[in-house]
Amino acid sequence: MGSQQASDAQIRLAELRRQIDHHNRRYHGLDDPEISDAEFDALFDELLALEAQHPGLVAEDSPSRRVGAAARSEFATVAHRSPMLSLDKASDAAELAAWVERCRKGLKGEAANFACEPKIDGVAVSLTYERGQLTLAATRGDGCAGEDVTANVRTIPAVPLRLAGRDLPLRCEVRGEIYMTKAAMEAFNERARRRGEKTLANPRNGAAGSLRQLDPRVTAKRPLAICCYSLGQVEGDWQPATQREALEKLNAWGLETNPEAELAEDLAACQRYVERLAVRRQQLPYEIDGAVFKVNSLEQQRRLGAVTRKPRWAMAYKYPAEETSTRVLEVEFQVGRTGAITPVAKLEPAFVGGVTVSSASLHNMDEIQRLDLRIGDRVMVRRAGDVIPQIASAIPGQRSPDARPVELPKACPACGSPIVAAEEEVVARCSAGAATCPAQRKEGLKHFASRLALDIEGLGDKLIDQLVEKGMVQTPADLFRLQRDALAGLQRMGEKSADNLLEALKSSKRTALARFIYALGIREVGEATAQSLAHHFASIEALREADAEALEAVPEVGPVVAGRVAAWFGDERNGQLLDELREQGVAPESAAANAAKPLAGQTWVLTGTLASLTRSQAKAHLLALGARVVGSVSAKTSQVVAGPRAGSKLAQAEKLGLGIMDEVGFLKLLEEQGLALENAQD
Ligand code: IVH
Repeated sequence: MGSQQASDAQIRLAELRRQIDHHNRRYHGLDDPEISDAEFDALFDELLALEAQHPGLVAEDSPSRRVGAAARSEFATVAHRSPMLSLDKASDAAELAAWVERCRKGLKGEAANFACEPKIDGVAVSLTYERGQLTLAATRGDGCAGEDVTANVRTIPAVPLRLAGRDLPLRCEVRGEIYMTKAAMEAFNERARRRGEKTLANPRNGAAGSLRQLDPRVTAKRPLAICCYSLGQVEGDWQPATQREALEKLNAWGLETNPEAELAEDLAACQRYVERLAVRRQQLPYEIDGAVFKVNSLEQQRRLGAVTRKPRWAMAYKYPAEETSTRVLEVEFQVGRTGAITPVAKLEPAFVGGVTVSSASLHNMDEIQRLDLRIGDRVMVRRAGDVIPQIASAIPGQRSPDARPVELPKACPACGSPIVAAEEEVVARCSAGAATCPAQRKEGLKHFASRLALDIEGLGDKLIDQLVEKGMVQTPADLFRLQRDALAGLQRMGEKSADNLLEALKSSKRTALARFIYALGIREVGEATAQSLAHHFASIEALREADAEALEAVPEVGPVVAGRVAAWFGDERNGQLLDELREQGVAPESAAANAAKPLAGQTWVLTGTLASLTRSQAKAHLLALGARVVGSVSAKTSQVVAGPRAGSKLAQAEKLGLGIMDEVGFLKLLEEQGLALENAQD
């Protein structure tokens, strides 16, 4: 091979590595990809092909080398250059105040400010980068020496194998937390349950277990993430002066840091941070067990020093535990939208993570067996953010003699039809369909109206229960036939809420095709599959026509899903439902049609009250212009429309420096886009 050819390949490979690292970071780190999955795959395929042609040019930090090492029988022990310390704990305002006071005294009254960060519940790691290359990843161990888990950490997409930028230190130790998001753990457990495999008890165990796999190929399959929170030893010309500066540098090198981190001027600001984070806690995609406060100046940190492995300059403020013990009073069986029978433990009410919990899902009979659970047992319950309470374990050795085993009922508790347990499945199901079983009907409607589906505001679970019980609604199409008077006569409904609901139903008719497909509640068709199907077929009519073979041509649709989708559309009753929905004016739109609209790709937030139109009307207009409308403000929000009495969302938007529009500006926009306000309120 010519040397020209080899050097061309070398240049192209370097470029591909750079691009792949960049897009990996956009995707995993910032959750804000710039290119499609297919484009990313194309880059990766090109890299693999070129590396196969030029094996001598495969760089140690090539993205293709993330999973390269073989399984091992044990981990080597490695010493940390600077120790990995642990943190002192405070659990109330007084203890936090006492710490701030100790810092002040230790600094002889000198002013200090504080870095405030969430305390993510995962596993601590130390990453060593030499001239920008990841050379070592180690667990904390006893703080002085830990285990070499480099091969495993290399498989985590969000860990750069090479740091970005120039003037990198000769060597540095980066400290951070490896964790699993709540959603990743739920998805992992859902799949494990379906396959009858072991589930993860909580995200921390998930992260720790995944990191300590002897075979890196197993780790590679686990959805791990990282959040870096400090620098250990740094060798080179540059040294950080503050914790804030260290975090900014980590970020510039392409390492992920926590966007919730803030600086506080004094104790009062630290306390406000604790309170704000406690509220944010439920919305964060990962579990936290508290906040960490650090004296910001590293020089002041050095002066304060450490006692017995705990620095005087840092403090962990711990939130109340999200785990407690209680007793199982009874096990009931609920019927889901697809007829799946789910055992639910009724618990002696217990206070966990800020709320009282009196029931917990047991998922399926296998889970009960795994927990070795009987009615009357004492159990540990956990609550993780917005995740349903879980029974983590039965407490051994405390079983009372009258504890009863849990038995699967023979008949559906909602309709009395026989319950069947298919052999290849872990779950048992009601043998009837939604036409016969009221529980399935209710759950199907709840799914149809839910946030990720048609997102019908004001159509809550209790209202759906009433509508089904009174025989007012059988299928989703019936929702659109509801009349004002009948609605207004229902419990907890007045004329005003009836009007709002009708308005919300009307605006939900114009919806994205992917949402509509998801809303149908076809077994195995979750949000992601619905999106693939919408993308591929572009219309509900085309999807209806597709046979199993055509369905299998869709990326990520295998024979099982294809079979479920084909069977659903093949059912005459479902065909009738689709026809009726169309007659009612429900018109799902493909992403392609939506992309041509003026606000396509934008995410808007409405807050406060607008004088000339209702929230639903404003939302309907925005949807018509192609925007997505969501309830909370984040860095990804394109624009906020704020009416009078806008509160924290407006404050958050100002803090993030987002575009904010008042009512006048919003009406002007609508007018410019030719949207008449004929249905505006007085
Ligand atoms: S600082 C003195 N910052 O909490 C510095 N730790 O006991 C020690 N943790 O397992 C660590 N988030 O991995 C620090 N923002 C954060 C943290 C954090 C989570 C973990 C850490 C360790 C434990 C410290």
